Amino acid sequence: MTLLARTNEAPPLSGPTPEDPAVVAASRPETIIEVSSLTKTYDRKVGPVLDDVSLTIAKGSIHGIIGRSGAGKSTLVRCLNGLVAPTSGRVAVSGREISSLRGPALRKARRDIAMIFQHFSLLSSRTAAGNVALPLEIAGVPKDVVRQKVAALLDLVGLAGKADAYPSELSGGQKQRVGIARALALDPAVLLSDEATSALDPETTVQILDLLREINRRTGITVVLITHEMEVVRRIADHVTVLEGGKVIETGPTFDVFAFPKSRIARSFLSSIVAHDLPEEVTRQLIAAPIEGSDPVLRITFTGDAAHDPVVTTLVEKFGIRPNILHGRIDYIAGKPLGIITVIAEGGRPDLADVLAHLTSLNLHAEVIGHVVRSVPAGARRAAR
Ligand SMILES: Nc1ncnc2c1ncn2[C@@H]1O[C@H](COP(=O)(O)OP(=O)(O)OP(=O)(O)O)[C@@H](O)[C@H]1O
Ligand SMILES: [Mg+2]
Repeated sequence: MTLLARTNEAPPLSGPTPEDPAVVAASRPETIIEVSSLTKTYDRKVGPVLDDVSLTIAKGSIHGIIGRSGAGKSTLVRCLNGLVAPTSGRVAVSGREISSLRGPALRKARRDIAMIFQHFSLLSSRTAAGNVALPLEIAGVPKDVVRQKVAALLDLVGLAGKADAYPSELSGGQKQRVGIARALALDPAVLLSDEATSALDPETTVQILDLLREINRRTGITVVLITHEMEVVRRIADHVTVLEGGKVIETGPTFDVFAFPKSRIARSFLSSIVAHDLPEEVTRQLIAAPIEGSDPVLRITFTGDAAHDPVVTTLVEKFGIRPNILHGRIDYIAGKPLGIITVIAEGGRPDLADVLAHLTSLNLHAEVIGHVVRSVPAGARRAAR
């Protein structure tokens, strides 16, 4: 009876299922910055510098915006804090539409959006402590609170012993630490960084990036990193947007964008970090279609855990292929391994579709990128041309 009755009943209330809209909404990160159809034209004769830019930035994330010089990165970041007024479109930060605010309302919203710069912008007449205190003094914070807050901020950035040093007595990395402490003084929700590590040597850059990540983790502040240095994004950004000629050409999790860029421009742009493009000596040998005596060339992309699997052995044992490695590299993107190897699939005559299907079943991304003529030494092939 109970069994029969149960089959006709509605399913028991066992709590929300993963498809529940409430669950989906809760697991979706909250958006803190929303840019919609943003266009900026400084000079009509030149045309738009930002062209229909839309992107969202999740609260608490580190979001990199990369692009070549002149791509529009600084213009975009200035639209985020209201320093530049958009020609059209919307910019909302913490639910406030920055592009429509004026006067005191804009100044209040800006307190929530701090910024650090390439050349630090410190006052040379003030000590490290004096520079950090400045925004607090302007905001009318009582003196004893300022003192405590400044000490805590200098401690946070690892400069507790340098409170009384003037900028001229500090190294570039230390100056940027003061800049970061000053930016954090009013507990902003967003920290914008416009090329903040571009004037620093590689070792100091890494230290400053690690500090930004540490602050992001400790305080939950959202960090927007504007940079032309891919290394910066690769090291700490969890999401990335690629700008080119004022347009967003890619946006998404850093690993996905770096591992599988959809556009040719992004692919070539990221090639200093990830071996998407083969060296020219290799590309020159490729032909588009198979001919008598040619072998296919496979590009195999390993991501995450699959990067440690013995793929080459699999090709030999399962398909009798002798993989001749043309090119290969393993990089770490946002802490995850990403390997790309390019092999000539010599020997064996397996159905290529079977090979690709097998590699896919191992969670690898594999594609045939061309063919090369077999058994002619590379040197002889070049001489014959
Ligand atoms: N205030 C301005 N008035 C007129 N044109 C401007 C202004 N600011 C920027 N531009 C132009 O807009 C384009 C984008 O400049 P922007 O500074 O946003 O690029 P960027 O990506 O930050 O470049 P970089 O990496 O060199 O800093 C450039 O062609 C620049 O000359
Ligand atoms: Mg710039």
